[in-house]
Amino acid sequence: MRNTPIDSEIVRNEIIGSGLAKIGKGSIREIVRLVNKIEQKTGEKFVRMEMGVPGLNPAKVGVEAEIKALKRGVASVYPNIEGISGLKKEISKFIKLFLDTDISPEGCIPTVGSMMGAMASFMVANRNDHTKEGTLFIDPGFPVQKQQVRVLGHDYCSFDIYDFRGPRLRSKLLTYLKTGRISSILYSNPNNPSWICFTEEELQIIGELANKYDVIVIEDLAYFGMDFRKDYSKPGEPPYQPTVAKYTDNYILLISSSKAFSYAGQRVGMMAISDKLFKRKYPDLLRYYTSDGFGYSVIYGALYTLSAGVTHSAQFGLEGILKAVNSGKYNYVEDVKEYGEKARIMKSIFLKNGFKLVYDKDIDQPLADGFYFTISYPGFSGVDLLEELIYYGISAISLDITGSSREEGIRACVSLVRRDQFGLLEERLNRFNEDHPY
Ligand SMILES: Cc1ncc(COP(=O)(O)O)c(C=O)c1O
Repeated sequence: MRNTPIDSEIVRNEIIGSGLAKIGKGSIREIVRLVNKIEQKTGEKFVRMEMGVPGLNPAKVGVEAEIKALKRGVASVYPNIEGISGLKKEISKFIKLFLDTDISPEGCIPTVGSMMGAMASFMVANRNDHTKEGTLFIDPGFPVQKQQVRVLGHDYCSFDIYDFRGPRLRSKLLTYLKTGRISSILYSNPNNPSWICFTEEELQIIGELANKYDVIVIEDLAYFGMDFRKDYSKPGEPPYQPTVAKYTDNYILLISSSKAFSYAGQRVGMMAISDKLFKRKYPDLLRYYTSDGFGYSVIYGALYTLSAGVTHSAQFGLEGILKAVNSGKYNYVEDVKEYGEKARIMKSIFLKNGFKLVYDKDIDQPLADGFYFTISYPGFSGVDLLEELIYYGISAISLDITGSSREEGIRACVSLVRRDQFGLLEERLNRFNEDHPY
């Protein structure tokens, strides 16, 4: 038995009991389950960095609008699949004010989280041309999106952007696009898990190649406005959250309300399809849908089969939030800046104790401090590091499951770590460092 901050015998038994050959290869939810069990058995609290749950209160304006809607009786009525009209207008306004991009309310559609937005996007974008096969993921990424593509029976390919930043991205993308097999490209920006932010130059490359090879870009803005190096919080004023929409009309935007508005529990997000793509006709869609129209197929083909709309009251909640944000009454960025502050402190605690940052630069600028950061420890693979840190009461996920080529790394999520746990984090990392000299 080893002397570690968390009873090593209990940890070992629980790891064996989890049935996973390598706990570090487990999914986020599997790690959550394991750590819950160890916490229960030992009575010790972990520094929990595995899951991206917002650690803040939900936007109050949203909760109030939802309660009002429920009291009015909306719960008994099926909402329109395409979304309630007030919300569609506010989404369109939000996109104009914070992305400086015009999309008609028609193409602004609520979804049950961005999770559903991605699923519906794949269901239509990857079926619009029988000669193409699926999605190119610019990794590292959110593992469940690959699972979505897999269960739909589509193909996918991916590469880690780490070695292909800036102009190098063009030739790398070309190696995939030249095959003529790519239907869609997906990336998140800011990126989960690495927190790199694509530059305008990179977005321009993606947009230009999407035009040239007629590929649909699915831009996942789950962490909208959360590159805190810039102030994207002022409606209608630059700087704006960067977007590929400046460089192509072949795009779908996925805007999650989970992190930006701490609204994850209500499962309501936004999908916005460019006007041109919404109206475009693809005869091959008739293989699956009653219409060849892209937007029509997304709504009455894909979303109808998935859930026939989004919870009525949650739509009113999101409408309430967007009204407040669009009118400048609610500055959502002020609320979520806390994540960046915590990341800055937590990174310094890791670095002080022998850890290294894995993704550390946006080309020539230090990376922003945000919801996630990535770290490694000399001599460990990410999978082994994750397992060893469990004995020290710290949980994370390995980069291995995110499509990252940086096998040495793990992802730390700052949201659930409270400031009053920083001392404990420091103490445990200090001990880890002492026990693993290099
Ligand atoms: C990159 C990325 N996309 C999408 C999602 C899902 O967002 P939602 O909660 O809106 O379904 C997440 C959630 O963690 C994410 O990190």
